[in-house]
Amino acid sequence: MIKHIFITGGSGFIGSRLCTLLLEQGHQITILSRQAERVRTIWHDKITVISQLTQLSDCPPPNWVINLAGEPIVDRPWTEKRKALLRNSRIALTKSLFGTLQQLPEQPDVIISGSAIGFYGDTGNNVVTESSPQGQGFAAELCHDWEQVAQTHRHKNSRLCLLRTGVVIGTEGGMLKKVTLPFKLGLGGPLGNGQQWSSWIALDDICNLILFLAENQQCEGVYNATSPNPITNATFTKILGKVLKRPTLVPMPTFMLKAILGEASSLLLGSQRVLPQRAIEAGFTFEYPNIEPCLVNSFATKQSL
Ligand SMILES: NC(=O)c1ccc[n+]([C@@H]2O[C@H](COP(=O)([O-])OP(=O)(O)OC[C@H]3O[C@@H](n4cnc5c(N)ncnc54)[C@H](OP(=O)(O)O)[C@@H]3O)[C@@H](O)[C@H]2O)c1
Repeated sequence: MIKHIFITGGSGFIGSRLCTLLLEQGHQITILSRQAERVRTIWHDKITVISQLTQLSDCPPPNWVINLAGEPIVDRPWTEKRKALLRNSRIALTKSLFGTLQQLPEQPDVIISGSAIGFYGDTGNNVVTESSPQGQGFAAELCHDWEQVAQTHRHKNSRLCLLRTGVVIGTEGGMLKKVTLPFKLGLGGPLGNGQQWSSWIALDDICNLILFLAENQQCEGVYNATSPNPITNATFTKILGKVLKRPTLVPMPTFMLKAILGEASSLLLGSQRVLPQRAIEAGFTFEYPNIEPCLVNSFATKQSL
């Protein structure tokens, strides 16, 4: 059945791929973007674009809402100003979104709202699942508050799924896009001592997980959006070098990452060995459970627009 789907963050790395998949299935999409003209140029009339949440009342009430908007988190040092922007673009926007939805004549069947595995903080070698507690630090607090605002302001008639996303792997955005050039130039290497665990997920798998959660009525609550096979940074480095056929001899020392990114370096140097226990229990199947085929596929296909 054709659904009307409203997406915040629909112009981003994950959102763009999701829009492609949803359009292939015949759904109608409305996205929120601060760059409405640019997005309209890309999608023409295939997608409706609004620049203010208040414009949602002029659209048919959405059946599904997918809330992914947020300023990029690892790009720059976390100054107080940057922290406020990171929080506002997620927490304040999510609160406004839920306020806007409450005003609509019909509530969506399901709301899938973003979060990240940063919720767990640095957990070393310990395996982490959805029932593990909140960790320490700015990212953990940000994710906690982002989830909390969705839980507090949800309408009881809408099912709510919270997506604790890991490092999304695709060539069009996220971490892989940033590291590809240095690796291609032979300047890639482990971050810090490389022993930290990295919990990643293929771009197609996170998009399919979002669709799975939306379609399955029994799914509700928190889901780790990570592959079942986290790897250490050293292993990731070795496999990326192998896939790109380049040496990986240039490590990025801890002190240098800390000097460049300050507190934000904790996201690259911290260790998170996260398992998608609830997605697996719900019957979700990963197309790319292992990193090497995921990387090979990412470089073989242009995954976004
Ligand atoms: N990619 C990953 O590896 C990863 C990992 C963990 C969690 N996540 C989370 O998943 C979400 C989507 O990730 P992504 O990689 O697709 O992000 P992205 O490519 O950076 O896109 C971010 C999206 O958020 C919107 N946005 C940014 N700042 C905003 C603001 N101040 N107000 C309103 N909208 C704003 C942008 O829309 P416009 O510019 O069009 O307005 C854009 O569509 C993010 O919240 C991110 O934190 C991603």
